[in-house]
Formats: sequence, C-alpha cells, structure tokens
Amino acid sequence: MRVCGIVGYVGHRPALDVVLDGLRRLEYRGYDSAGVAVIADGGLAVERKAGRLANLEARLDEVGRDGFAGTAGMGHTRWATHGAPVDRNSHPHRDVSGRVAVVHNGIIENFIALRAELEAAGIEFASDTDSETAAHLVARAYAEGDTAGDLPASVRGVCRRLEGAFTLVVTHADEPDLIVAARRSSPLVVGIGEGETFVASDVAAFIEHTREAVELGQDQLVVITRAGYEVVDFHGETAPVKPFTVDWDLSAAEKGGHEYFMLKEIDEQPTALADTLRGHFVGGRIVLDEQRLSDQDLRDVDKVFVVACGSAYHSGLVAKYAIEHWTRLPVEVELASEFRYRDPVLDRDTLVVAVSQSGETADTLEAVRHAREQKARVLAVCNTNGAQIPRESDAVLYTHAGPEIGVASTKAFLAQIAANYLVGLALAQARGTKYPDEVAREFHELEAMPEAVRRVLGCTARVQELGRELSDAKAVLFLGRHVGYPVALEGALKLKELAYMHAEGFAAGELKHGPIALIEPGLPVVVVMPSPKGRAVLHSKLVSNISEIQARGARTIVIAEEGDETVLPFADELIEVPAVPTLLQPLVSTVPLQILAAEIARSRGYDVDKPRNLAKSVTVE
Ligand code: M6R
Repeated sequence: MRVCGIVGYVGHRPALDVVLDGLRRLEYRGYDSAGVAVIADGGLAVERKAGRLANLEARLDEVGRDGFAGTAGMGHTRWATHGAPVDRNSHPHRDVSGRVAVVHNGIIENFIALRAELEAAGIEFASDTDSETAAHLVARAYAEGDTAGDLPASVRGVCRRLEGAFTLVVTHADEPDLIVAARRSSPLVVGIGEGETFVASDVAAFIEHTREAVELGQDQLVVITRAGYEVVDFHGETAPVKPFTVDWDLSAAEKGGHEYFMLKEIDEQPTALADTLRGHFVGGRIVLDEQRLSDQDLRDVDKVFVVACGSAYHSGLVAKYAIEHWTRLPVEVELASEFRYRDPVLDRDTLVVAVSQSGETADTLEAVRHAREQKARVLAVCNTNGAQIPRESDAVLYTHAGPEIGVASTKAFLAQIAANYLVGLALAQARGTKYPDEVAREFHELEAMPEAVRRVLGCTARVQELGRELSDAKAVLFLGRHVGYPVALEGALKLKELAYMHAEGFAAGELKHGPIALIEPGLPVVVVMPSPKGRAVLHSKLVSNISEIQARGARTIVIAEEGDETVLPFADELIEVPAVPTLLQPLVSTVPLQILAAEIARSRGYDVDKPRNLAKSVTVE
C-alpha cells in the first residue's frame, strides 16, 4: 500500500532531467525511496534508491548519467505503509527481461493470487511488492496472445485484471516513442507541451513546462507521445476528458527565498484567503463553484455532516459553530475514517460537506461514496481542481490556496475555514435564516481577514524566538474554548507532526475533569483566548482556567486579542492578535501556532516540510 508521486515524459529534452525535476516537486507525496527509468540505447536505464530523492541523485552521480541519454522516461517517489523501504522494493519495477518497467501508486488488492499465478509460470520476483506483478503481467501480455506487440492494449488487459486503486505508468524498451499510463482512483494528470507530453500525479511535476493539462477519470488509460495524447477506457473506447489550464505558475511551487515551504505557505495565507473568497459574492448572493443541486435541494437540507481528516477535520470543527449559528441546522463533524463504519443516519435531505485539500484522501473519498449511496447530497470543499472528491460530489467550492507543498497544512487550513463559512452562508441564504444584508455583512467581515492575517504575520520573529526557547520541552498542552478549541487541536497536531513532541489540545472546560493532572512546573501550556468583548463569559472562564494552571507552575503562553489587559497577570508569554469577530478568530489565532510548531521542529533539527512517516496525500485507508 502506498501514496506516491509519479511522473512520465516523452519529448525532446533529456528525460532524466525532466523526471528528476518533477520528482523534486512531488517528493511531498512520499520520500521513502525514489527511482527513474529512461529508454536509452535500445534498452531501459534504471536506477532506484531507498530514502530521499537526494540519495538517488547521489547514486546517479556515482554510476554516471551517460547511460540515461534518452528523451522518454519516468520516475517515482514512494511512501510505504508496509514492505520495507529498501532498494529492491523501490520503483520502477521490471519484468524478467528488464525491457518493461512499471511505476505504481495505490494497492493491487489481488496481487497474492496474481503473484502465485506468475510464480507457477516460473517467474521469479525480485521484490516484495504488489507492483512488480504489473510489470510481469504487461511483459507477458506484450509477448504473446491477442495483445502481442501492442503496449496500450497489453496495459488495458492487465488493468482489467487488477483489483484495488492504482495509477500505473508503463514503458517498454521496444516502444521508445510512447509511454502508457492508467488510472483507477489514484490521481493522474496529463501535461500538454510543445512537442512534449507529461503524465504525473500532480501538475506541480510539469508546471515548469506547461500549464495546459487534462485530468484522467476513473478507469481511463492514456498513451502519451511527443505529438500529444490519447485517452481511452480500459476496453479501448475513446473516453471523454476535461482539459484545464493551471491557474498558478512555477513560482508557486518553489520556495521563493524562504528556508522551507511551510514558512512560505504561512506567509501566503492572506493571499490564499483573498483568492478563496474572490468571486463568491455576486449580485448580493453567495455563489458556489459548481452546483449540481437545485436551490430547493439546499432549502430542504435538514442536517449537515462535515467529514474530513486531520487539519481539514479541524476546519470542520470550526465551521460547526458558524453553520449552526447562521442556519439553525444541526451540524455533526466527523472523522472521515470513522464516518462510514458507524452507520450514520443519512438521507436525501442530509448535506455532507467533504473537506479535503488534496481531494484524494481515501478516507474522505470513501465517506463521500458512502454518503451518496445513502442518497445524501455531497458538497466538496477542495484545493485541487478536478480531483476525485469534487468529481464525485453534487456541488463544489474550491479553496484557492495554490499548491501546498509542506506536508503540514497551513494556508489550505485557513482557506478551508473560509470556504466552510461560505458554505454556511450559502445555506443561510437558501433557507432564509439570514437576511441578504446579514449575509453581505458576514461576507465583508470575511473579506477583511486577509489584512488581519497579514498583521498577525508581524509576530513571526517573536514567535520563532519563543519556539527556540521551547525546543527542549518534553510536551506542550493547548487549551481553547468555543472556536478556540479546534484551534487548540490544530496547534497540537502541528507540533506533533512537525516536532515529534507530545502535544495535546483540550477544551479548557475539560481541564478540571482530568487533564489538569498533567500540569507540572515548567510545562508549557498555550492558551487560545477569546475576545473579551465578543464572548465575555467565555473570556472570564478561560482567565480562571489560566490562573488555575499558572498556580500549578505551568508556563503559560497566551494568544490574546490586542489590548486584552485582563490576561496580562496570567501570561508568562503573550502573543497578541488583532481584534476580529468571534467566529473569525481561528483565522488569526492559528497562525502563531503554525509558526511556533515549525520553529520548534527546525530548532530540533527536523525537516519541516517532510516530517517523518508522513505524506501529503493519504490515498490509502
Ligand atoms: O488532503 P486532505 O485535506 O484531505 O488531507 C487531510 C489530512 O491528511 C491533512 O490535513 C493532514 O492532517 C495534515 N498533515 C495536517 O497538517
């Protein structure tokens, strides 16, 4: 099982360079191993190496790159969930003759039976992977039978035999002018250049060369050549495709002078918010991007579920407060991985909001499928144009955060909160629970948030200094109430995933029901304060909570509204954020927590963009 980055190229440039550049931009998808195959000198030049792409490049320097002088090739960067990340399990995998190579993302669920069949036919496997079966099957199909000598037909036949979710890219030394790629569930896009064509898991791999792209659909296969591409289904019938132009350029996928992507992405949050809101308030009304639901369908909604994972789930927890307040609809927020296994009560009047940056998270995708089977309507909030989750949904609202390369979600998270709020306003508008002028006012308040976030970024140096001071802490607790509670959860998640530090987020009111026993002298506790003006009652309760933990020796780090003097006696460290309406506070109070986690990780010597054991998109359950 794996989540991987895949790239394939046929054109006029040195394929090795194009593929390595592409892999560099896809490494966020996995970094357990990397490999390349180039058609050169009538054969296949292949190199693979466990570990990061840098290991593969070092290996190529060692063996020399002369043997890779071809203009068609492919590469792979892997995230393994089982099967050791060692050289022999790295992709590309070859058949016995070494003339067929395959890279694969996903899982071939029936590989045990297929492997037994191949072994019974005398084929010896060189790896422990399911992926290698595809290389042997394609080689056999190309060598004999109806599909002999026809690589696309051979791959189609093999795809029809495979079960599970997969993207395959296949090359054969006898077919130096084409590459074949196939998709079932796992993502695959085609890039269309001048005299060159690309395939990749993500447009970032080829954005340097072209912004013209085509997203492959479910059970489709593409043949790429220098001249272009042809898409068919697994039975060889011409398949419909949806071309699109990528609306960001190479600079968005590069660090632009920042030490790491995450810091750049934190800085891009004002723009991400502004871009997400743009064009969604037209003629005094909130509009979605794609709506295959009628206004009546929205009016009929009687319950909302938000399903998502990780940070996207936290964005849903934030949105619950706003959507319930604005629409008076009950909102449940559920981890996508739990949702479909507990028999949730769904019907055609249930709106399921599926939030996903990548649009390909398997848990969320399966939750969407389950909801639709139960006749619920699904609205996707997604950052990736044409990804599987929006494709399978009844309505879509895209976040326009641009590519997020750092594995830890930052700008996508803030954009998700904004988009979820637009969903809430769209529902309030359809149901008439808010007057048009109220909807307009809420929207304009959202529009002021990019500037508020820009002001928060002014605290970066100060928070980084604090991060360096905290880098030796054994654990950090995060507390919040109301919309500050999901912010506390998000702050703890950032710290866990980046700094490998024990971190927990709690609803501050729960402290006295157990977690207060964790407080010991010197323990850093980050407290997300509500506005003293917005929800005075919550504010005073949280002040009491801080004084309780301070009395027990905790080191209090307080995120509070500018000018909030009541917290001063209880704050060992104070980080001020601008005053904003209560429901919008997460958009400002999350930002210092992102900076803090990144700096603690950096000071501890960890790779901020590529935390251990993680991958950006988790396309397996
Ligand atoms: O692509 P998605 O938004 O569906 O991803 C969901 C989570 O995997 C993601 O938010 C993850 O928790 C991040 N690493 C958190 O920083």
